[in-house]
Amino acid sequence: MEKIIILGITGGIAAYKAAGLARLFIRNKYPVQAVMTPAATRFITPLTLQTLTGRRVLIDVFDGERPDKVAHIDLAARAEALVVAPATGNTLGKFAAGIADNFLTTLFMALQCPVVLVPAMNERMYDSAAVQESLRLLRSRGYHLMEPGAGELACGIAGRGRMPEPDAIYTFVRHKIGKKDFSGIPVLVTAGPTREPLDPARFLSNASTGLMGYSLARAFAERGAKVILISGPVSLPPPLGVKLVPVVTAAEMYRAVLEYYPGCRVVVKTAAVADFRPSMAAPEKIKKEQAGLTLSLAPNRDILKKLGEEKGDRLLIGFAAETGQLVEKAKRKLAQKNLDLIVANDLTVPGAGFASPTNQVTLIDAAGRVEELPLMEKEALAHRLLDRIRERLTRG
Ligand code: CTP
Repeated sequence: MEKIIILGITGGIAAYKAAGLARLFIRNKYPVQAVMTPAATRFITPLTLQTLTGRRVLIDVFDGERPDKVAHIDLAARAEALVVAPATGNTLGKFAAGIADNFLTTLFMALQCPVVLVPAMNERMYDSAAVQESLRLLRSRGYHLMEPGAGELACGIAGRGRMPEPDAIYTFVRHKIGKKDFSGIPVLVTAGPTREPLDPARFLSNASTGLMGYSLARAFAERGAKVILISGPVSLPPPLGVKLVPVVTAAEMYRAVLEYYPGCRVVVKTAAVADFRPSMAAPEKIKKEQAGLTLSLAPNRDILKKLGEEKGDRLLIGFAAETGQLVEKAKRKLAQKNLDLIVANDLTVPGAGFASPTNQVTLIDAAGRVEELPLMEKEALAHRLLDRIRERLTRG
């Protein structure tokens, strides 16, 4: 039986954002069934949601698609999760009180899957005793509540009550419904580039954006791991539920990694650590009169190599960025650094490597097994890597 995400939409101005949320689920291969309250249809048309989801929108309890089935019971059995965004004070009150007077509130009563509620309303309404009491009750019954953001509200005043953006809701839901096969396992991920200062205004760095490492950290967190993400400077927001340790230089990353290493079971080093730093960072900005400047560089310590020397029973996974002779060079790195698995990518392949939303990698393990994966989104790749890591944890 195909499992679907039910997107509940209630009558608030933020209902227009539900279209973006529906698209996000669909784009990520989750089938979506939209359920709207009658009031929601005043803010966004069912036709919009029907077109995006490819399914007739359910509004009335008595308008099930098939006469041989009780629509809300049938749908409840197929639901992977219910996400109500926006959830008005009115609907939250009905959920809490057990009132079933439209399709959404009736369905809610029949559900056994995870439920994510995303309240959005005017700040005063949100703070009212009735709404707060409903939220308290719903939380105590195990429903997941996503805190509204602060910002400008539709009524013109600034305050709490704003519905978070579709991206944030999608991530929150994934976090709540994913399989938890890394539950409680302490994991360390490094990500991004490092910066090696040359003078107060300049540094040596590389093209890493951190996307691969952040996708891995997010995937681990979604699957229940306790994640420490040690990251060089990037412009990505930290994934939900991850402890972020920001660093700048390779030396700082070295210290941070060694500090957290003892408590970790799995370490994945995606960071593109600078192999060299300027021997001396000039205390003042270097002037261009010094034409023909020659930089003197000193080597940085290899963090992963150090971890390999003190591996114990940890699983150690490294990355290898190469330009040609991929498998041969990656195998050498795997041996030199005492790794369990190395993820090798050829920077010359289109769509692979730095600053790309996709990657095409080859996995090589300590036994010499080589697995070439197809080109895929880094987020999908992250989950694929986790599957492989999980198999090793079970074996080890
Ligand atoms: N790495 C590290 N510390 C360094 C350099 C690299 O921990 N000072 C890690 C990276 O995080 C990656 C792996 O080692 O997981 C391989 O990095 P890569 O840059 O591909 O290789 P290097 O070991 O630096 O070797 P080379 O630059 O000669 O290819």
